[in-house]
Amino acid sequence: MSALRLSGASYSYEGSSVALDRVDMSVAEGECVAIIGPNGAGKSTLLKIMAGLLEPASGTVEIAGKPLTKNNAGELRRDIGILFQDPDDQLFMPSVREDVAFGPLNQGLGPEEAKMRVAEALKIVGLAGFEERVPHHLSYGEKKRVAIAGILAMRPKMLLLDEPTANLDPRGRAELMELIQKLKCTVVMATHDMAAVAAMADRIYVLDRKVLAAGSKRDILTDGKLLGSAGLEMPAIAKYFSGLQAAGKFTGEIPMTVEEAVAGERKNA
Ligand SMILES: Nc1ncnc2c1ncn2[C@@H]1O[C@H](COP(=O)(O)OP(=O)(O)OP(=O)(O)O)[C@@H](O)[C@H]1O
Ligand SMILES: [Mg+2]
Repeated sequence: MSALRLSGASYSYEGSSVALDRVDMSVAEGECVAIIGPNGAGKSTLLKIMAGLLEPASGTVEIAGKPLTKNNAGELRRDIGILFQDPDDQLFMPSVREDVAFGPLNQGLGPEEAKMRVAEALKIVGLAGFEERVPHHLSYGEKKRVAIAGILAMRPKMLLLDEPTANLDPRGRAELMELIQKLKCTVVMATHDMAAVAAMADRIYVLDRKVLAAGSKRDILTDGKLLGSAGLEMPAIAKYFSGLQAAGKFTGEIPMTVEEAVAGERKNA
């Protein structure tokens, strides 16, 4: 059974052209799926549909085998944490503490348990001590971390992450990637960060209102033609080795991450 399945899901915003056109997608439990596509491809719209925040004009969404409807969206959403692209859309309480506690309290946890969850989540994102700060006075990267803490505090079974690494500093980005991999929950992430996709994703969907392609990380990330047709490019390291290959200076499997490239060099040394 899929953790998440979309069948023929379409969506149009009022007064705007089609944002999503008959999207079929399935995500297995524990899998990390990346959705990549150019600006305006419908990635954020798709995540909101998966979270039951937008209703598809046609088609269906199933969460853990159950069709998502207006009536059960609240209940099914309980196990889903969605990180919005813009943290200002996510943070709305007067203090960081209240913002991060909002989800756990809403899940029915008592104030003591919620307090523990807040402390734990803020520690994970490196913001212990920020409890009484005003969310809207934080830097963009700090806001993003608070928003991430807010969803971690709910201990969701599935994370829907919209541009999770955007605007984080290199250490914050590396820590977040490590954290997501450690959580071992089902993850769907929309991103332009090809290096993060190379490091984290199991499978990739290329979206441009329609699903242009779906496949394993390697199949998609080493297909320069496909990526180029969607206005995307390979991770920098893969592009470099692909250039060497085209010039006859490299044979073998194109590495997708710096770590893979280093491991390959060691093997050849
Ligand atoms: N609230 C809205 N009202 C009208 N049109 C919208 C609205 N939100 C998004 N759109 C349009 O829907 C399409 C898909 O937008 P969406 O934000 O899902 O794309 P995206 O792939 O997330 O883009 P980006 O890479 O820039 O984040 C775009 O053409 C956008 O202009
Ligand atoms: Mg978006």
